Order: sequence, then C-alpha cells, then structure tokens
Amino acid sequence: MAKKYITTPIYYVNDVPHIGHAYTTIAADVLSRYYKQKGDESFFLTGTDEHGAKIAEAAKKAGKKPQEFVNVLVPHFEKAWKALDIEYDGFIRTTNPKHEKVVIEIIEKLQKAGFVEKRKYEGLYCVGCEKYITKDDLVGGKCPDHGREPVEQSEENYFFLLSKLQKELLSVIKSGEFEIAPMTRRNEVIGKIKSGLEDVSISRQAVEWGIPFPGDETQTVYVWVDALINYYSATKIYKNVSWPADIHLIGKDILWFHAVIWPAILIAIGEKLPKKVYAHGFFTIGGKKMSKTLGNAIDPIALSKKYGADAVRYAILREFPFGEDGDISEEKIAERYQTDLANGLGNLLQRTLTMVNNFNLDVKLDVMKDAKHEKEIERNIENLNFSEVLKNIWVYYLKPANELIDKEKPWELVKTDKKKAAGVLTLCLSYIAAINKYIYPFMPETSEKIKKQLKTLKPEPLFPRIEEKGD
Ligand code: MSP
Repeated sequence: MAKKYITTPIYYVNDVPHIGHAYTTIAADVLSRYYKQKGDESFFLTGTDEHGAKIAEAAKKAGKKPQEFVNVLVPHFEKAWKALDIEYDGFIRTTNPKHEKVVIEIIEKLQKAGFVEKRKYEGLYCVGCEKYITKDDLVGGKCPDHGREPVEQSEENYFFLLSKLQKELLSVIKSGEFEIAPMTRRNEVIGKIKSGLEDVSISRQAVEWGIPFPGDETQTVYVWVDALINYYSATKIYKNVSWPADIHLIGKDILWFHAVIWPAILIAIGEKLPKKVYAHGFFTIGGKKMSKTLGNAIDPIALSKKYGADAVRYAILREFPFGEDGDISEEKIAERYQTDLANGLGNLLQRTLTMVNNFNLDVKLDVMKDAKHEKEIERNIENLNFSEVLKNIWVYYLKPANELIDKEKPWELVKTDKKKAAGVLTLCLSYIAAINKYIYPFMPETSEKIKKQLKTLKPEPLFPRIEEKGD
C-alpha cells in the first residue's frame, strides 16, 4: 500500500480565511481523497503559520497578545475547512512546542554543518510579504503585492549560506529527484538559480514574536524558515506519517521559498527532499485582486452555506486550469451550479431514475468499464489537471448518457419493447455510476447521495433551486 504525504501551505492567521486560501486546500483534499479512494493510504496536512511581524502587528491592532490573538483566529480556519468538507489528517500550528523544538534542532544542525554566519544586513522589509524586497520590486515606492511601503531595516542577522548550494540545487531539480511543476515554474526557478543565489537572513532582531534563535536569544527564527519546517516537524508530531512529503501544493507567490530555500535547508542538513512542489495560479474575483479594502474577499463559509460545499469545490476547480491564473466570481459559481450541476448531473440522475420507476423496469446496476478514459482521468488527476478531469467526466460520461436517452426515447420504447427500454436505462445507470466514482474526490457529499439513490432507485433532487435572500 503506497503512502502519500500531501501538504498545503500553512496559512497566516492575521485574518479569517478567504476563498483564495481555500483554493490550495480544496485541491489538496481532492488529491488526498482520490488516493484514499484508490486504496492508497494518504496523509493530508494543513495548518497555521502563527509567528512573525505580520501576526504581531495584527494582534497589536486588535489589542491582544499574539498568542491570544491566534488562538481566537485558528478555529475560523478549522470552521472554514469543515464547511468546505475538507478531510485533513493533520493540522499543525507553529506555536505547538513540539514544532518549535524541531525548528531549533534543524537550525542547530545547519549551524553544525557550517551553513550559518552572522552578518550585518541592511534592506527594505515588506511586512506583508514577510521578506526583504529590493528597490526594483517597488511600484510607486510600495510593494506591488501588498500596496504598502516597506520599512528600512538594518540589523545583525544570522545568514544561511544558500549561495554554497547552487550546484546541488540545480542537480536535484534537473535529475528529477526534486520535481517542480508545472514545467513553466520549473524553468523559471532554474533560470533564477542560474543567475546566482544570495545568502539569506534566517533570523530577525526586530521581531519578538517568534522562536528564539539557538545560541542568541536576542533574535528570533525568521518566520519563513519556522514555517517551512512544519512539513517535516509534522512527521514528528503525527505517528502515522513519515518524511519525505510526496507533494507540497502551493500558490505561485511562495514558489521561491518552497523550490529553493526549503530544499537547500534539507540538503544542508542531509535530509531527504520532498518529491514534488506544485505551484498553482492565482485567481482574481470578478477581475479584481481579492482584498478586504475592496470588499470583495469572498467568505468560503457563506459560499458553502448558499451553494453547498460540493458546488464551490466543483466550480473553482472547473473554471480554469489549476496551474494558470484565472478569475472567479459568485456569478460564475452560480452559473456552474445551474448549468453543469443542476441541469447537467442532477437532471440526468433524476430523469433516469424517474423513468426506471414510472415504467417499472427491471434494470441492472453496473459501473461502466472504460479503460481508456479511466486511464486518462487518472493521469489528469495525478498531474493535478483538475479542470480537465471534470471536463473528461462530463464529455465521456454525462453527455453520452443524455444523448442516449434523447436518441432511444425510453418513454416511447417502453410501449413496444420493455426489455430494450430496460437495457437503455441500465446503460444510463452504468454511466451514472462511473460519473459517481470519478466525482467523489471533488464532490464527496453529492457522490454519497447518488450512491444512495442508485441503491434505492428513488430520485431526489441533488441541486435544489438556490433561494436568493433579497437584500
Ligand atoms: N504562511 C505562508 C505559507 C507558509 S508555508 C510554509 C502563506 N500564507 S497565506 O495565508 O498568505 O497563503 C496561503 C496560500 O493561499 C498560498 O498558497 C497562496 O498562494 C494561496 N492564496 C492566497 N490568495 C490566493 C488567490 N487569490 N488565489 C489563489 N491562491 C491564493 O503564504
């Protein structure tokens, strides 16, 4: 039995989660459920990133101590994942003392291996990014991602000698030992590594809210190093998973940390590397960047309440290819709900079962066997081409089932040839059973409902009309 270890990033708890955060989590859940359904064991890890300047700043604004502040916010993440039917196996918090202990051990290993040096650092720091940025990155004096001015920082920091590892990094990426996907991201990273790696500061003097730096309590461990180690420390916290991870699912904004800094740390301490990092694209909401100030940050809990977790999961993975950027809006979700789900899937099941019942037909239950399409679907899901998988299901199974009904007209056939009518509907049911198998990782609740209906042959609406609460 193969064991898959799948991770999402750990989310900053400076605010409640929005639908952008849910993107990575939903994708990881689909992958994990797929492997579990297949009979492979899978361990799916998510969690929260709780240290650093960004959290400390938000806590201060809220008039709370950082620990108190994160303790209040973390349940919002758990609630959101529950609302979206996310079935994780581990939830790690970086304020967990067991994690903190592992972070210290890893820094000490880096020190022993000769990869840490104290140096003076001067630079511009963006608290939003939690990283130093260069003048060239700025747009109108501000960080383009966070719209805020960086602060000048000058302090003595401990540096990780990343520049020493350029050759090793290129070699593990090129050999495929450490895979970066999609290919365009891999090439991007290779290009950047080739243009030269600079050593990176891994401690902060100005940040108090963090893990004390081993050997120098006037500094804390840089929040990104603390955070990356979660993937490894979780294997010390949860007994049923072991290092290395099979796949780190992340957004493209945090690729450098995962594709360069993280493997370099692991190489430096002689640890195994994660097998793969996959960076997905970003989405905008109705053409705009999601933000609190714009008031367009969609709450995943409200969305799931209105459309159901399955429809949200389906719509955002169906809308555009996972590796690319795209756009989402509530209107788009509502439209997918109506066309693909209610009029498509729901209607097929309803009309099939209604005919079976009304005509009192003797049908058999089978799952359609279709090796060629099954292979394609499996390949697409394992390569994280989620929108393709969903298209495949609709094109290979849903469409032909509807076409079969329209062509054979069982309601007429039944008058002359009841056996043939039963045969047509048996075939339809086998299409539906195949659809049901493949949609399970994407829409677990719907899949369960269909399974029940196929057993009892009693139709019940899957996607009822959405009640608009007029405002
Ligand atoms: N705490 C760091 C990750 C540390 S992992 C060792 C962090 N957290 S985050 O909360 O800011 O972002 C978490 C994830 O949400 C990232 O993968 C990010 O790409 C994703 N997204 C946030 N907004 C998004 C969109 N609008 N669209 C798609 N994904 C988005 O970064």
